[in-house]
Amino acid sequence: MSAPKSGTDLEAAETGRYSPLVERIGGKGAQAWAVHSEAMARAAAGEDVIALSVGDPDFDTPRPIVEAAVSELRAGNTHYTAFAGTAALRQAIAGYQSGLSGRDIGPDEVAVLLGAQNALFAAALCLFAGGDEVIVPEPAYVTYQAVLGAAGATMVPVPLRADAGFHIDPRDVAAAVTGRTRGILLNFPHNPTGALLSEDAARGIADLCREHDLWLVSDEVYSNLVFEGRHASPCALPGMAERSVIVNSVSKSHAMTGWRLGWTVAPAELTRHIGNLSQCMLYGNPSFTQAALATWLGRDLPELGAMKETYRRRRDLVCRRLAGVPGLRVHKPEAGMFVMIDVRGTGLGAEDFAWRLLEKKGVSVLAGDAFGPSAAGHVRITFAVADAKLAEACDRIAAFVEEIGRG
Ligand SMILES: Cc1ncc(COP(=O)(O)O)c(C=O)c1O
Repeated sequence: MSAPKSGTDLEAAETGRYSPLVERIGGKGAQAWAVHSEAMARAAAGEDVIALSVGDPDFDTPRPIVEAAVSELRAGNTHYTAFAGTAALRQAIAGYQSGLSGRDIGPDEVAVLLGAQNALFAAALCLFAGGDEVIVPEPAYVTYQAVLGAAGATMVPVPLRADAGFHIDPRDVAAAVTGRTRGILLNFPHNPTGALLSEDAARGIADLCREHDLWLVSDEVYSNLVFEGRHASPCALPGMAERSVIVNSVSKSHAMTGWRLGWTVAPAELTRHIGNLSQCMLYGNPSFTQAALATWLGRDLPELGAMKETYRRRRDLVCRRLAGVPGLRVHKPEAGMFVMIDVRGTGLGAEDFAWRLLEKKGVSVLAGDAFGPSAAGHVRITFAVADAKLAEACDRIAAFVEEIGRG
């Protein structure tokens, strides 16, 4: 079975009716979730499907945050707020990010947006334009190309090699710098591979930014889900505050994907531009969700530590169960909520593997190819799924691989 055709192909012929933007945002990234959409449709139709294809935490948002939002609603906190976010939340985020990145951050460096995705989009629009090149390690989170494309910029991929554990080599980044390079977009801890940035690599990247006068956009949405080692943010290094944008959210760290709460940490002047963009794009963010987060962000919530430990246990479960399956090679992630599995030993390509696995065993995974050529032959599975389901899915994957082997 092959991927169903998306509307994008059909619409391509008609794009003259629209701005060229529609082509730049309708590429491969928009289609990457075809397997997932099919899995969801099957699940809705009553089929026994286990979806390992999307990184949406299966935990509830910690109760105190929910209660705070409900109280705010009841108290009538339902009006417009300042465009770059409420003063209370900007202050809370500044404190939280100071703790995470090891640098003193002020509230005038924080703009609140609708999730990290919106924050990335806002940063890209305020920093990059037509003709600019932005270096992005690949495999890369699938929306990046469209985000940069929306700004008119070109994404210049540099490989993260599977045999190096998908760790970045700053020399590869250096080799990609041209006279048109305006920035580097990094995402460590990394989706889809779970790789961390080492202290050395962070220094190497920061050196390049300073040397070539580049912006660094650092998507750090998994910085709170590190299992081994330490999250090193190049944005905290000397001379980087004035040329970097940290993008973060509570989607993954606090199981709050549906709340759409994220932010940028950027120099005050850029933050003002992002606030202006927010004004004409969003006219501010929801009031009661901001108030609830302002109360709880950075405070001790036992649920957060418990979630992280659960992710760690599940990561170990997946790695243990699939490590011995002939034909599969498991890359143990250091962070995040995904495991990359090299399926080339089964004789199938990743896309084929994903569609056939869904067809035969009702398990959905994403083909690594969607994230970039360096992940070809790999599939990404999430461990944001209950232990028992995850174990069952691993058994189904093992049985599927064994059946392929028997021909
Ligand atoms: C690397 C990365 N960046 C950004 C996002 C978007 O996060 P948010 O829900 O905060 O918009 C995701 C979501 O999966 C992600 O994996």
